[in-house]
Amino acid sequence: MPLTLHLTVNGEAHRVDLTDPRPTLLDVLRERIGLTGTKKGCDRGQCGACTVLLDGQRVNSCLVLAASADGAEVTTIEGLSADGALHPVQAAFIENDAFQCGFCTPGQVMSAVGLLAEGETGGDPERIREGMSGNLCRCAAYPGITAAVMDAFARMEAAEGERADDRARTEDRARQGEPA
Ligand code: FES
Ligand code: FES
Repeated sequence: MPLTLHLTVNGEAHRVDLTDPRPTLLDVLRERIGLTGTKKGCDRGQCGACTVLLDGQRVNSCLVLAASADGAEVTTIEGLSADGALHPVQAAFIENDAFQCGFCTPGQVMSAVGLLAEGETGGDPERIREGMSGNLCRCAAYPGITAAVMDAFARMEAAEGERADDRARTEDRARQGEPA
């Protein structure tokens, strides 16, 4: 049965006409929208190479029927950097040598972004390893990956601390009647 999907991918609206309802979100992203940064490893939910954010939650896009994502917001590896600046997780992967061949890396990065947004790790390496355990790396870059996620956690905490300080300073100035 033909159907039309509406997806917002990396902030851009897409209309995708499907002749049948069976394609996965992974195949639609790669083959219909042309975003090949999301990788197909096992195509059966076992490797995490296809991880994207679906309405902010990390998912294996090979396990999501595209039809079920109609109206959703999707973020892929192509949509992470902003204004030419790498996302802190991307920067931390580079600086911590967290990959070798790179095939699993987009999925690792997207999973790490989702994991940190879940806010459960507290930067603890054991919890990070557990939270990233659905993302396999055939090159066994795991020590670097864990180090990168810890580093990204620290960077994001520091940035959040700076934003909180800025807000407090602005509120102080407002209380004292000074211009912001
Ligand atoms: S390609 Fe989706 S989990 Fe492996
Ligand atoms: S860097 Fe090669 S599979 Fe992970």
